[in-house]
Amino acid sequence: MDPISNRFPLRLTLGAFAAWFLAIAAIWLVTRNLDEHSAPAIFLGRFHILIVHVPIGLLCAALIFEVLGLTSLFPRLSDSVLPCLWLGVAGAMGATVAGYLLMAGEQIEGKDMTLHMWTGLGVVVLSTLCLCAKLVRVSPLAMSALLLVTVGLTGASSHFGGNMVHDNDYLSEYAPDLLKPLLGHPAEKEASVPNIPFGEWPIYARIVQPILDAKCTECHDENKVEGGLRMDSFEALAAGGDLVKDGDIPGEFVAGKADESEMILRVTMDPSEDDFMPPGKREHMTPAEIALVSWWINQGASPTMTVAQAKPDASVTPLLDELKSGHAK
Ligand code: HEC
Repeated sequence: MDPISNRFPLRLTLGAFAAWFLAIAAIWLVTRNLDEHSAPAIFLGRFHILIVHVPIGLLCAALIFEVLGLTSLFPRLSDSVLPCLWLGVAGAMGATVAGYLLMAGEQIEGKDMTLHMWTGLGVVVLSTLCLCAKLVRVSPLAMSALLLVTVGLTGASSHFGGNMVHDNDYLSEYAPDLLKPLLGHPAEKEASVPNIPFGEWPIYARIVQPILDAKCTECHDENKVEGGLRMDSFEALAAGGDLVKDGDIPGEFVAGKADESEMILRVTMDPSEDDFMPPGKREHMTPAEIALVSWWINQGASPTMTVAQAKPDASVTPLLDELKSGHAK
């Protein structure tokens, strides 16, 4: 191919990149002030989960083919790098447009979301660069290096995306014990909890927070901030979510009044209601858990009050006894 005939594919690539950039910018403009879920955006956005595997596979294949093409065993594999890159770049562009729609439509926020978004947009930039580099025929070594960085970023982006769907211990949970630390498995919580007499347990930290950790923080912590609400610390819970910021409710809890507290209303309403928490097929809070959290709110929702300082209450006495004996074990 002479350099002139290379110009059209290069222009096509740059044109596609410009169109992609404008598409993302347009979605950003239209959705940035959205304050509720957008059904059309979510409908289209959910295809992200399907499309996203296309660029992952193709960009990995491009790297493998490029490297194997350097060997005398598979010299003709180099010819397949270009088609892989064309389709990989198109897939990455499609996946990020759908992903952006999903993020904006469902108003997903949080650390993993931010990392996933920027690394994902980065994959489009890098893979487009790979395609241009291939079209202008940089050296195979430079090509392999560029592809390696692109595949590395794709891996990082996939990891952050995976973290949003699964718990952080998804990979390590069933790993052999030897591998667990290598996979970053969180150490057993019990070990770090000081062994103090039951009466001195701070109710929030030792009773309420573990319940929220088990049933709510999957979607309400620094990694995922659904409804603008974090429930991974007393301060975050007290600060409240979107409803509080918009002035629709005074707080996620109303000290002394569990039955007026949004966080209790959400777990006690009819589970078929849209607002019920947790949404979907996730495990509901048990009546015992609801009773304990309600008790804490009715006692004033203090961040520090201990079991001994709180007034006993018939609804929780047996539950506290259970916790105590569990603790004594
Ligand atoms: C699967 C994800 C998920 C889980 C798990 C979950 N929530 Fe939510 N939560 C959401 C979403 C999405 C919203 C925003 C939409 C809405 O307000 O219904 C939300 C909003 C809320 C709000 C309203 C916050 C505000 O100020 O707007 C409260 C209160 C709440 N959740 C409580 C809980 C409680 C309590 C639990 C644990 C029993 C829980 N959530 C578990 C997804 C989840």
